[in-house]
Amino acid sequence: MKTEFDVSLKKYNTFGLDYKAERIIHLVSEKETSVLLSEDYEWKEKFLTIGGGSNLLFTGDFKGTLLHPVIMGIDIIEDQSGDVIVSAGSGIVWDDLVKWTVENGFSGLENLSLIPGNVGASPVQNIGAYGVEVSDIIEKVDTVRVDNGEPRSFDNSECGFRYRYSIFKGEEKGRFVVTRIFFRLRRNPVYRLDYGSLREEVNKLGDVNLLNIRRSVINIRRNKLPDPEITGNAGSFFKNPVVPEELAEELSRNYPGMPVYNEKPGYKKIAAGWLIEQCGWKGKRIGETGTYGKQALIIINYGNATGSEIFEFSENIRRSVLSKFSIELEREVEVVPSI
Ligand code: EPU
Repeated sequence: MKTEFDVSLKKYNTFGLDYKAERIIHLVSEKETSVLLSEDYEWKEKFLTIGGGSNLLFTGDFKGTLLHPVIMGIDIIEDQSGDVIVSAGSGIVWDDLVKWTVENGFSGLENLSLIPGNVGASPVQNIGAYGVEVSDIIEKVDTVRVDNGEPRSFDNSECGFRYRYSIFKGEEKGRFVVTRIFFRLRRNPVYRLDYGSLREEVNKLGDVNLLNIRRSVINIRRNKLPDPEITGNAGSFFKNPVVPEELAEELSRNYPGMPVYNEKPGYKKIAAGWLIEQCGWKGKRIGETGTYGKQALIIINYGNATGSEIFEFSENIRRSVLSKFSIELEREVEVVPSI
């Protein structure tokens, strides 16, 4: 365990905001996490667990404690009849894990290549891209209870997974620290190529195989999304709204080009980026913040934005979409108040 005080947050958030945290505790193992959390500490009232900081918007200094799991290790736990169970520590960089699975010929995560962040955050917001959500592949999630340090495992069905949602960001928020995740992968791959231009990209590279799918996803992402190392951003700022079928149908009649996807029965999902673009926000810059020119769903920091500026900008977008389409956008990014 390593503790630092008065720490710059710059490398802990992909918006690149330069606030400070009072304290950060780096946790290297499950055991250490359990021992630490078994004690009563006042800081438990004011703490936040962070991974790669790719889904956070700090709006000021964080006058509390950050828990930062740096738990490592990728292991094959079971390898039977085509299924391979692999466990990965929550501190591993997500794309390092995806790369490892592809190099080993295990299928499941290849469509999720190059998503920023750490393994530990993947179930929290149920990351997804190109027709796959991580909940399709997660077997179980190991955690430690914040109040008493006891280990607790959640099977996939106990995680309450939905689109960009799990109980870890819902009813159990702040009650568990994710330490290790178990994935059910396959030696006999099942390819999922039906999202957007993915199949076309793979065909350009030749054979349909795990490596070519990974390469294609990387190409599409590099082409469409800003690299947080260069331009501060946190990926999609809002979720794609899920609306009742009747509203989607009415809007489709008025806007025939509107992208609509199937959801649970009676509901449709609409592309938030399209809604935002229709309101005139695509590529728009105000001061140090704006939306990305190729993807209106992504809010970027031109370099010197403040967290509050980005937040205000996003609220203006939300108001526009509400007034034009009567749809309330929900944030995907977590706004961290300056406590
Ligand atoms: N679109 C527009 N204008 C825009 C942006 C998008 O018209 O400014 C249209 C596109 O033309 C397309 C549709 O909206 O018809 C969907 O766009 P895209 O394929 O880019 O995907 P998305 O729905 O905007 C979601 C995820 C992304 C993920 C991609 C690919 C959410 C909130 N976002 O974006 O995830 O990479 O699909 O699967 O679900 C993230 O979560 O941070 C993220 C980047």
